[in-house]
Amino acid sequence: MCGIVGYTGPRPAAALVLEGLKRLEYRGYDSAGLAVVDGGRIEVHKAAGRIAVLEKELTGMMPAGRTAIAHTRWATHGVPNTTNAHPHTDCGGTLALVHNGIIENAGVLRPALTKRGHVFRSETDTEVLAHLVEELHGKGASLADAVAAALQQVEGTYGIAVISTREPDTVVAARHGSPLLVAVGNGENFIASDASAVLAHTRSVVYLDDGEIAVITPGDYRILDLSSVEKDKTVTQVDWDLATIERGGHPHFMLKEIMEQPESLRNTLRGRLLEDEGDVRLGGLNLSDADLLQINRIVITACGTSWHAALIGEYMMEELARIPTEVEYASEFRYRNPIVDERTLVVGISQSGETADTLAALREAKRRGARTLGLVNVVGSTIAREVDGGIYLHAGPEIGVASTKAFTSQIAALALLTLKMGRLRALSILQGREVVKGLARLPELVERVLAKAPEVERIAERLIRAGNVLYLGRGYNFPVALEGALKLKEISYVHAEGYPAAEMKHGPIALIDDLMPVVFVAPKDAVYQKVVSNVEEVKARGGRVITVVTEGDSGVAKLADQKIEIPETLDLLTPILTVLPLQLLAYYMAVRRGCNVDQPRNLAKSVTVE
Ligand code: AGP
Repeated sequence: MCGIVGYTGPRPAAALVLEGLKRLEYRGYDSAGLAVVDGGRIEVHKAAGRIAVLEKELTGMMPAGRTAIAHTRWATHGVPNTTNAHPHTDCGGTLALVHNGIIENAGVLRPALTKRGHVFRSETDTEVLAHLVEELHGKGASLADAVAAALQQVEGTYGIAVISTREPDTVVAARHGSPLLVAVGNGENFIASDASAVLAHTRSVVYLDDGEIAVITPGDYRILDLSSVEKDKTVTQVDWDLATIERGGHPHFMLKEIMEQPESLRNTLRGRLLEDEGDVRLGGLNLSDADLLQINRIVITACGTSWHAALIGEYMMEELARIPTEVEYASEFRYRNPIVDERTLVVGISQSGETADTLAALREAKRRGARTLGLVNVVGSTIAREVDGGIYLHAGPEIGVASTKAFTSQIAALALLTLKMGRLRALSILQGREVVKGLARLPELVERVLAKAPEVERIAERLIRAGNVLYLGRGYNFPVALEGALKLKEISYVHAEGYPAAEMKHGPIALIDDLMPVVFVAPKDAVYQKVVSNVEEVKARGGRVITVVTEGDSGVAKLADQKIEIPETLDLLTPILTVLPLQLLAYYMAVRRGCNVDQPRNLAKSVTVE
């Protein structure tokens, strides 16, 4: 949730960590701060609000010093004000610490530390860590040893970075549950929550695993375990460049990412489709065909938008591969004594690969003997590293908090997995070829739908005063209705509900009057005729109907007040096209309502707390 950057080297550190922090702002943005070691003291600056506020406060008074840490916060404990902003210091101001995660036993540690004479200044759980490190470091232990000892006493999750006046060219970092990496430069080193913060300086990174401590100095880095035993870690080269994560001329990352979908889908599919065989090549599954044939049940687990993709995967898997499949919210799965065994395949879907609940659900599944796969976008993320195998989405960095291109790539990846499982079972080569062909055509069809953005913008203009919007769909497009509603809620703060269209009669129909816009996702598919009846039911009650229909439709479209057309494709692939107008609708409504599209209130891109 929060973002962390640290630096030590020959250059002025404050400006460097501030620049890195700006690239992490999508992780949290309710307050920010930095600490610099300079001339035997630590200078701390913090501000409530966005990083721009902190930056403004530092204009003309950027602290000197060559070692610094910085933090952008998404509050978990304590209101988002300057006092609770990180870094937090010990009693004497000898050390400063930033933290991403939650210290669950802070309520026990805090009174004990107070009793021992420590004075707390904030309401945060994090501050206990600063005082715990102080206890040993103050008695002469090295910063790394003191951090290791402090961490033995805490329960919960953390990614931390610490600096001290006693070791002015060292940053100590540690990870348990919150992502962190060391970025290796030339005569300088960094730590960061993710690579985007440091890409301007180096592409060589070392991903920390849980229970590891990193000690960086300008000329060296060491990775240790909590007992201070040194570990040998691989240096990975990041292949994203900065241009890829800039907005590329678009006013918002979200719009850029919506418009990138032809390309992101091409990348998800590249090298994986075997047209003649009606099959797919998935190099990363790490499970043999014999292993996959042993699977008699699939559980797909995820959160938010990724959970919506999972629902589409369930429909695909049962229809084409005929394997019983269930979808579970990761946050529920992990706490409900789930029934899985070695013949169960548990598939985690996550854009970030860091969502705490999804990670914990996969760990739980593994502990119980299930095979685990990850459908993940961020290469090298924790989920990607911990699962038995998986399919990288290759959708490229997704910075906008509202997930868009990752969603369509997740559906494409689920179709690939379904084909793999299906072709090993009853799915014929002819059926396989049909799906492969459908997938191969998708990027071009997506382009055609995105070209209708101005039409969608006009529809959005007429909806901006709506206080509620209902989204309805059936079959493969029921999860699209859920996703359309989620997009609208999260970025425009308009209340929206997604429902299976037929369920409307069992309650939500009471909401319908001439003020209630109802968005029907109604492409020509197996349940199309049923949806026509549902549209009639809404029209009969004066509802205002906006539809997403297949080109040339004359049934639903005739009843609708506004329509957006999509080209024809296979039923199972329609969600990749029908969701596009809904992403654009949410985007344009949010922009017209003056909302901060890329950084909606209260949200964070990567939810690394449970
Ligand atoms: C989507 O727009 C959301 N911001 C959110 O629901 C997101 O999909 C969810 O937090 C899961 O994230 P992940 O895919 O990175 O695991």
